Amino acid sequence: MMTLTILPGHSLSGVISLPGDKSLSHRAALFASLAAGRSQIENFLVSGVTTRLLEALTSLGIFWKLDGTTLTVEGRGLGGYSIPFAPINCGNSASTLRFLSGALAASGTPAVLDGSKGLRRRPMDRIIVPLQQMGVNVKGTAGCAPLSMGVSHLPLKGGIINTPVSSAQVKTCLLLAGLSAGEPVTIIEPGFSRDHTERMLAGMGVTINSEKTSANGSAQYQTHLIPPATRYSLKPLTMSLPGDFSSAAFLIVAAVITPGSEITLQNIGLNATRTGLLDVLLSMGASIQIAARPSRNGEPVGDLTIRHCPLKGVDISGEQVVRMIDEFPIFAIAAAFASGTSTVRDASELRLKESDRISGLCAELKAIGVSVDETVDGFSIHGKGAIQGGTVDPHGDHRLAMSLAVAGLASQQPITVLNSEIMQESFPEFTDVITRLGGALEDTPNLEPSHA
Ligand code: S3P
Repeated sequence: MMTLTILPGHSLSGVISLPGDKSLSHRAALFASLAAGRSQIENFLVSGVTTRLLEALTSLGIFWKLDGTTLTVEGRGLGGYSIPFAPINCGNSASTLRFLSGALAASGTPAVLDGSKGLRRRPMDRIIVPLQQMGVNVKGTAGCAPLSMGVSHLPLKGGIINTPVSSAQVKTCLLLAGLSAGEPVTIIEPGFSRDHTERMLAGMGVTINSEKTSANGSAQYQTHLIPPATRYSLKPLTMSLPGDFSSAAFLIVAAVITPGSEITLQNIGLNATRTGLLDVLLSMGASIQIAARPSRNGEPVGDLTIRHCPLKGVDISGEQVVRMIDEFPIFAIAAAFASGTSTVRDASELRLKESDRISGLCAELKAIGVSVDETVDGFSIHGKGAIQGGTVDPHGDHRLAMSLAVAGLASQQPITVLNSEIMQESFPEFTDVITRLGGALEDTPNLEPSHA
């Protein structure tokens, strides 16, 4: 167990590129395993959660090789998986479990999918019920992992599937299963979750499209996948992944709140279904310049230049929540340094992430002197333009850990993050990057027991 202490008073400056996007890395590795032939993926994110997926592919008989951050995968086509000898351990990674269940359904391969205590807490009925509707032989454990997948009769059924939550993990699972459906599949979600799967599968030769419609006065987002007369043969991938916007988010807020800072982040993925935080920070008065670059494999990419500047409070609700679903912990830090109150509504989904991101975030913000009120579906932060500092526990949540660490760059006293090794899950280079930009950190074994 490690403890990270961040010493305030050091401005950030420099130009850097970041490791590959987590969502794209998961998808590229998994989709490549279903393709007919060899894929090559550059700037692949090597981290805790992606390692789980790669290990899962090994247990399904897929050969892959990592050379630095270049991943080569020998795809065996839909139906090419071997039956694993043991339950597949997805660790803390809901993406791994939810995506794999769709790929296994398409492949018709029986397997048991399990994970950490934290992952077993997360809702899986949102994939189990629609997969069953498609004819997949899958059972959960009281709506959660472990999931048992038996042999399913192929082709699977298609039709219209309504999902009550806007979740790209659910959508991806169902689209992957839909690759082996015998008829078109339409997925309807209340908000437009990130569309990386649609873009990547389209590049692999899948007929897929999305549209915004309305029903009973509310917007709906429909994604249609059309299977061919014979089963899909997916084209292998050759791609270089952009830097992860969700990792960039920590550095963007770091530069905005730390006096004297100016940084440039190069080649960051700027898919509009992910960049809600940029719009929110701009509306708070942040100084962020965006320079577009040519898109990469259908994904928008650009450079971001961020300077320190004062912020004002903002309200967030509705569709904006989906576009920044992973960025609320770091948004909360920006809101604490802003002047005035910021309120988040319609975000109860945050309670079902790697931790309960509403209660955990509110508890740890209070521990460092932030005035915050918790609500059922969000929180209000009464920003004072400053944070006191102190010791925090990230509740086993990588994004909470990095957000609280960022607050320490500009707090009045240092911030100490206990159990900080959890950052390895999505951004193992976090401390190196902060140091390279001029931040001051001390990384030591845990000295105090966790208070979580
Ligand atoms: C992800 C989708 C999001 C996000 C997660 C990654 C993805 O989850 O929170 O970190 O890659 O599709 P939901 O779609 O379930 O909200």
